[in-house]
Amino acid sequence: MKDFVSTKDISRVELEELFAIAKDIKKNGCEFKEALKGFIVATLFYEPSTRTRLSFESAVLRLGGSLISTENAKENASAKKGESLEDTIKIIEGYADMIILRHNENDSSLRASKVSKVPIINAGAGGGEHPTQALLDVFTMQEKKNIDGIKIAIMGDLKYGRTVHSLLNLLSLYKNIVVYGFAVKSLELPKNYKDILISKGITYIECHEFDEIPNNVDFIYQTRVQEERLEEKEKHLSKFILNKDNFSRFSDSTYILHPLPRVDEISTDLDGDKRALYFTQAHNGVYIRQALMYKIKKDFYENNI
Ligand code: CP
Repeated sequence: MKDFVSTKDISRVELEELFAIAKDIKKNGCEFKEALKGFIVATLFYEPSTRTRLSFESAVLRLGGSLISTENAKENASAKKGESLEDTIKIIEGYADMIILRHNENDSSLRASKVSKVPIINAGAGGGEHPTQALLDVFTMQEKKNIDGIKIAIMGDLKYGRTVHSLLNLLSLYKNIVVYGFAVKSLELPKNYKDILISKGITYIECHEFDEIPNNVDFIYQTRVQEERLEEKEKHLSKFILNKDNFSRFSDSTYILHPLPRVDEISTDLDGDKRALYFTQAHNGVYIRQALMYKIKKDFYENNI
């Protein structure tokens, strides 16, 4: 593996290999503290981030690597002067051994990977994909349940929610998955994603009322409405807020996930519930990103895969 730009590009075998590495790092982190020694990673972020950038940077430091970083590349890098993404990448490949890229355009990481001699990791690309978020989502889920055969409700913004798109690709690697997609009409899952899911054997059930989600789903994956990507006609829609009261009908083993940041779509009265996994998810982001960079360094630089 050189680049990681989409969850469409990973096999179940590779996914399980990554999870095994992440599990090992979570348990025996000290053994990996020199894994990226002498290695420089660039974090190039054109959009805001707390979790993804800082967990990648923490992951690099925990593996003994070094960092160069732009936290607001749209304003503070030469994109402001009109430099293309491709030219920027061709410069940074001379300064770093791996580039972590967040950008507002859906095809940004793919374009970067086509011109880059060094590995590109997609850290969120427009309303398209956010593949490393999906890795940590499924990693967190499999710590609680065997993923084959799960029922999951995915809610909020299914149209622009890039974490949703990447998560659905990963879930399609598992057997007998049932997804309940709950969103207002204008933020439903786009048809191209539904077609892919159906072709891969996922059962996709569209819901427009919260009551249509069965009490025994294994996971509820709530998401923020991506206000910054909405067209004018899509703004000011009513939003569903998950709270202690409406969650009370679910089973003792229905877990709540959210990629974060949240605005108000999960009430803080759920934060103390043992089934609320969203802070664990964010913390697992460090281990899974350590595992991914460790694997890419081994595959690309040591084994020429
Ligand atoms: N989940 C996620 O991508 O969060 P950030 O935008 O803070 O990186």
